[in-house]
Amino acid sequence: MNALTTAVILAAGEGKRMHSKTPKMLHTLCGRPLVGWALQAASPLVKEPPIVVVGHCAEQVKNALGEGFRYALQAEQHGSGHALMCARSYLEGKSGYALVLAGDMPLFREETLAQMQSIDCAGAILTIDLADPTGYGRVIRNESGNAVAIVEHRDATEAQRAIHEVNISAYCFDIQKLLHCLDRLTCDNDQGEYYITDVVSLLASAGETVKAIKIPTEEGMGVNDRVQLAACTKILQRRINEAHMLSGVTMIDPDAAYIDHSVKLAQDCTIWPGVVLQGNTKIDEGTELLPACRIKDSHIGSGCRLAGVVAQDTVVGNNVTIGPYDNLRPGTHIGDNCKIGDFVEIKNTVVGEGTKLPHLSYFGDGDIGCRVNAGCGTVFANYDGFKKSRTKIGNDVFLGCHTVLVPPVTVGDSAFTAAGSVITEDVPTGGFAIARSKQVTKHDYVENMKNRLKNKK
Ligand code: UD1
Ligand code: CA
Repeated sequence: MNALTTAVILAAGEGKRMHSKTPKMLHTLCGRPLVGWALQAASPLVKEPPIVVVGHCAEQVKNALGEGFRYALQAEQHGSGHALMCARSYLEGKSGYALVLAGDMPLFREETLAQMQSIDCAGAILTIDLADPTGYGRVIRNESGNAVAIVEHRDATEAQRAIHEVNISAYCFDIQKLLHCLDRLTCDNDQGEYYITDVVSLLASAGETVKAIKIPTEEGMGVNDRVQLAACTKILQRRINEAHMLSGVTMIDPDAAYIDHSVKLAQDCTIWPGVVLQGNTKIDEGTELLPACRIKDSHIGSGCRLAGVVAQDTVVGNNVTIGPYDNLRPGTHIGDNCKIGDFVEIKNTVVGEGTKLPHLSYFGDGDIGCRVNAGCGTVFANYDGFKKSRTKIGNDVFLGCHTVLVPPVTVGDSAFTAAGSVITEDVPTGGFAIARSKQVTKHDYVENMKNRLKNKK
């Protein structure tokens, strides 16, 4: 075992081939920015916080990754070797080995990178075989099988281009030997850049050994354009979904379940196609998510059944049914055993246990008690054009269909409102409020009207 002292992630490149205003390193795959995946795989293997070389949109990349890493700035991008030179000050005086990874390679597994921990020579690189190696650096091995050079596609001869083993930008170098080579890098190549790949030939020509370790092809895929972004996302999603299935989650079609790396799913959840789970979301045991649920930063309890629910910053208790077609906006808290029916929007509202909000309603900025039944078309008119106010509904309240509550207003426990009421004043405990004009029925009106019209002709 060598001592992997630190990791350097090269993340300063612009990513022109993405054609994007978002820096390439911050395009997300399964909820994590591109550069975060290489960092995630490398971090457990090294003793010190990894060094990220930033350049293009440096501040934005740093802000997105946050603390916990060290940053080196490559103000102008003169190649991958130049990027590594910019991290020099962190490496000087250090012993042991540095793991160096391109930030645009999201598929490395920690255990694959760990293979470089067992080398006892100057360096190692990871490689893959590609049927079509166009664009990649070709790996040149000597008769002992060690790497003696990496030749970029554009600089390669016809014979070198015929090699299918390619460099995937995962390196491990003895730090002191690496620093010695960095001083000797030149930009004598087709692009006039300093290439990190030349470290391999510099070491080899100094009589040092660089191992070339072949790994599964899948892990060597990188992101240069959005076709590759989608392909890598698919592979990461498959890994995430397989891990969930192996721990007891049913997925009706794992190719159509979009689940961020950060989501927690308990055993016996069932995930139908078209479900999107994002951010800090947790789904408890036995809950079923039917098609078209998109849930972000929310906690859904056990034994629930949700269909077509969009939820964000929401907490749902146990044994709750919701949907279809509901919008649960931030600050929604739903207690155990509730039933939220179709076409209901809830925002910044607490709903007590056993309450039923069955159809076509809006509840904004409210406190709803337990065992309440709100009729179809209930509306909390929370906004008067200037400010938001709260509506308070006690326990065991029955709100008649099409009740509009104009807050600030309180309906006491066990109270009733009549259908079609506009409630502007508090209703006491046990009270019944009816707030609509009385019905006027004119018995002969229709017949009289018809006669009047006939006589006109
Ligand atoms: C690089 C390798 C190539 C390999 C391929 C796939 C070199 C010279 N070539 O080519 O052998 O087959 O990756 O892994 O390295 N970067 C900087 N600053 C720069 C330039 C690049 O930080 O000035 C970073 C990029 O952000 C990226 C990485 O270095 O993370 C590789 O750069 P990229 O331009 O993607 O190199 P490739 O053409 O893919
Ligand atoms: Ca690349």
